[in-house]
Amino acid sequence: MLPRKRRSWAEPYKMKMVELLKTTTRQQRQRAIQKAGYNTFLLPSEDVYIDLLTDSGTNSMSDQQWSAFMLGDEAYAGSKSYYKLEAAIHKYYGYKYIIPTHQGRGAENILSQIMIKKGQYVPGNMYFTTTRVHQELAGGKFVDVIIDEAHDPTSLHPFKGNVDLQKLEDLIRKQGADKIAYLTLASNVNMAGGQPFSMENLKALRKLTSRHGIPIIHDMTRVAENAYFIQQREKAYAKKSVREIVREICSYTDGATMSAKKDALVNIGGFMATNNAEVFEEARNLVVVYEGLHTYGGLAGRDMEAMAVGIQESLDDNHQAARIGQVVYLGEKMQSFGIPIVLPIGGHGIFVDAKSFLPHIPQDHFPAQALAAEIYVDSGVRTMERGVVSAGRKPNGENYFPKLELVRFTLPRRVYTQAHMDVVAESTAAVYERRMRIRGLRMVYEPKYLRFFQARFEKA
Ligand code: F0G
Repeated sequence: MLPRKRRSWAEPYKMKMVELLKTTTRQQRQRAIQKAGYNTFLLPSEDVYIDLLTDSGTNSMSDQQWSAFMLGDEAYAGSKSYYKLEAAIHKYYGYKYIIPTHQGRGAENILSQIMIKKGQYVPGNMYFTTTRVHQELAGGKFVDVIIDEAHDPTSLHPFKGNVDLQKLEDLIRKQGADKIAYLTLASNVNMAGGQPFSMENLKALRKLTSRHGIPIIHDMTRVAENAYFIQQREKAYAKKSVREIVREICSYTDGATMSAKKDALVNIGGFMATNNAEVFEEARNLVVVYEGLHTYGGLAGRDMEAMAVGIQESLDDNHQAARIGQVVYLGEKMQSFGIPIVLPIGGHGIFVDAKSFLPHIPQDHFPAQALAAEIYVDSGVRTMERGVVSAGRKPNGENYFPKLELVRFTLPRRVYTQAHMDVVAESTAAVYERRMRIRGLRMVYEPKYLRFFQARFEKA
């Protein structure tokens, strides 16, 4: 239950336009999910009522962003919009050189190719699907150096995104610093449930990596959300603004990849940033092969305009308070129904612990995949699997069996209301009541890369 004395937050905006949603019957949804091979990624969005598949590219843009859209300079080279984006990144994040890309993985591709030599290790605070696949395609080996608490859905550690410095030191001692390409530091770690690192941890990490000449590459996809948690949970930062904290985080890192489709409140876009002139020079060369000229990188001028405004809006304290307030509202409501979720409640969604929700389904029968399908059938709410399917296979072909087997209820920014959250929590509670009747799945089609997007299943 919510404490009675707590003062409510409310959205720091009002609605000017709405998008109508279709409702479906249970029978229609049953047919739709079967046709989609029990994979929520393969459902037509027309058949979805409340779409919590991802917070990526699903944000509502503000009137300011839409008006900036109209200012887009669609010149092939040297677009005015590029210079606005560059100025916003300098001002709010502080990185020296930037390369726009069509989205985050475009930046990951270029950066991995430049910075990883075959056989090198790339430690990181938990893997992310696209990030790791680009590291592996470039010949690198990902090593998880996040603290153990991150793999425990019940641990209440306030900074489950922290790097375990001992694990990193052990890797350096064992392999030698020259065998380490760089360290990937993700803010508000997605696969751990949207969990932040602390500034204290980052400062210590900076010291350690500087001693060994290891660069820190910041996956800054959800940096503003991480900064909000630092403000709320780290005493020394209680009086600092999200904007100041973001700038400080970036200052301890050497470069970044960004999927602007999350924090930065746009529907498409990303960039790579670096403070290293040589890396920049190479990236400027490579971007024309994969994305487009270095002043647009796969984006239209209007996309870069909207991103420049979105970056600024994302750093507003009230925006983050409402954004994360909504996630907390959904999480507390689920907890009140006894639904097992990852704690503490994270930044971009609620992660339901499918292993304890469905203890009778073994992990090789894909409990999280099965649960996401059941929730869709119950109410048309679309969620996604973050467990053994997402984890994929090791380069040697074996399945990764991650400790976390989760269903992610991801909240797009500025899109749904509190009433939508009630519907979502009540639907999940209804499925929880009949959980023992839910069966597992078997995979009948498995794509080679990032299988969770397109794999197909049947009832086991
Ligand atoms: N890094 C993180 C932490 C991400 O969450 C994502 C995307 C990316 C990189 C890749 O960026 O999609 O723009 O190419 N995450 C989405 C999600 C897909 O649903 O979590 P992208």
